[in-house]
Amino acid sequence: MSAVVVVGSQWGDEGKGKVTDFLARKADLIVRYQGGSNAGHTVVDGDKKFMLHLIPSGILYPDKVCVIGNGVVLDLELLLEEIDRLEKQGVDTSNLRISSRAHILMPYHKRLDELQELGCRQLGTTKRGIGPAYADKIERVGFRMIDALDPDFPNRFQAVVREKNRVLQTVYGDPGYDYEELLNRVQGCMDRLRKYVVDTSILVNNAINEGKRVLLEGAQGTLLDIDHGTYPYVTSSHPTAGGACVGAGVGPTRIARVLGVVKAYTTRVGEGPFPTELTNEVGDYIRARGAEFGTTTGRPRRCGWLDAVILRYATRLNGLTDLAVTKLDVLDDFDRIKICVAYKHKGKIIEEFPESLRVLKDCEPVYVEVEGWKSGLDGCKTYEDLPLKAQRYVEKISELTGVPVSLVAVGPKRQQTVVLKEIF
Ligand code: GDP
Ligand code: IMO
Ligand code: MG
Repeated sequence: MSAVVVVGSQWGDEGKGKVTDFLARKADLIVRYQGGSNAGHTVVDGDKKFMLHLIPSGILYPDKVCVIGNGVVLDLELLLEEIDRLEKQGVDTSNLRISSRAHILMPYHKRLDELQELGCRQLGTTKRGIGPAYADKIERVGFRMIDALDPDFPNRFQAVVREKNRVLQTVYGDPGYDYEELLNRVQGCMDRLRKYVVDTSILVNNAINEGKRVLLEGAQGTLLDIDHGTYPYVTSSHPTAGGACVGAGVGPTRIARVLGVVKAYTTRVGEGPFPTELTNEVGDYIRARGAEFGTTTGRPRRCGWLDAVILRYATRLNGLTDLAVTKLDVLDDFDRIKICVAYKHKGKIIEEFPESLRVLKDCEPVYVEVEGWKSGLDGCKTYEDLPLKAQRYVEKISELTGVPVSLVAVGPKRQQTVVLKEIF
């Protein structure tokens, strides 16, 4: 038995948290492999709702080991808040493990993200400091968890804080940070977090060697990938399946399957082109019916029809072996539902997702229409329970991507999941 990657196939918020939680019941170890507290993964078990930002969506099962991998950038204070919130909700977090190589997202990263959003950048980020934290990692001026535990940390940290203050003060007119105060904040957090810190790559690889079931949970989605997404309107990490290997410290030969999570329509938060966006009452209806408001920032999500050009792109980039179609119930009331199968650009049909944002911005969707099922799906337990027209919609997604659908979600609750093919 090897590892299974759960990856977002669109612009994030596809329901990765719900799908990971559902699959985690049969897994032994769940790893978050990239991103940071920009992610907001929702898990609903019965009438209890949990919002996860940094901790893997397997944490509700007390017997599963949950790993924050080296690819994640960690806001220590938010992580501690998340641990405390979960404990208050009755969740045991003692099986959490944090990679010693995960980079720390410092308060100045958040401040820089906010200031850059006010200035010339304006990407519509979550202002959680993600871009500046990954930039420092690549610039080699970041601090990993293991570095913050090193006796030499205060010296190196002081030099970096001095430089950050110079940038904050001279470029942005910001007061900057008091080094001693910042050091105390970081060390105070590390005192509580050090017990979780290990070399998680050893843990994950040993688990795979022992035949255990490992789930690698992505954050964000394929179109937010720094290399493959709608650059510059992307996040600063690799949500795609390749990022799972780097961010968890496993080789590609350990990945058995890659499950793409696909929302039955499309949403996007923040700026950037979105060919099937509905800026009309249909889009407003989907937003209200699907409760499409950001888990992390509360921002309204932009909504539109399903886009198969994007799904084929996600299939290729991630090597998808399975799909999980979520939020099918949100489309219950439509007479007819549209699916974009290609784009039209200056009279020409385009079937591959364009690399130029200028081209993408001017693409018009080419739609096929399917009949809606006009009945409530939220009580469906098996595939046969779904009305035939809903089955047709699911099969159409499979046909357009060439990937089998293994799961269908018909409501936010863990129990509202239909299994077509077991992943484990
Ligand atoms: P993630 O970031 O990919 O984990 O997704 P989010 O949690 O940010 O957003 C998905 C939202 O849809 C959450 O509020 C989920 O509780 C909810 N959700 C997930 N699956 C379904 C579904 O099948 N039906 C409905 N109605 N809601 C769902
Ligand atoms: P989950 O894991 C949806 C978007 C932001 C912005 C862009 C860059 O819940 O699916 P960043 O703060 O990462 O620098 O912002 O990426 N974004 C997300 N959109 N779901 C997410 O995570 C996202 N994380 C970041 O809105 O457009
Ligand atoms: Mg989310």
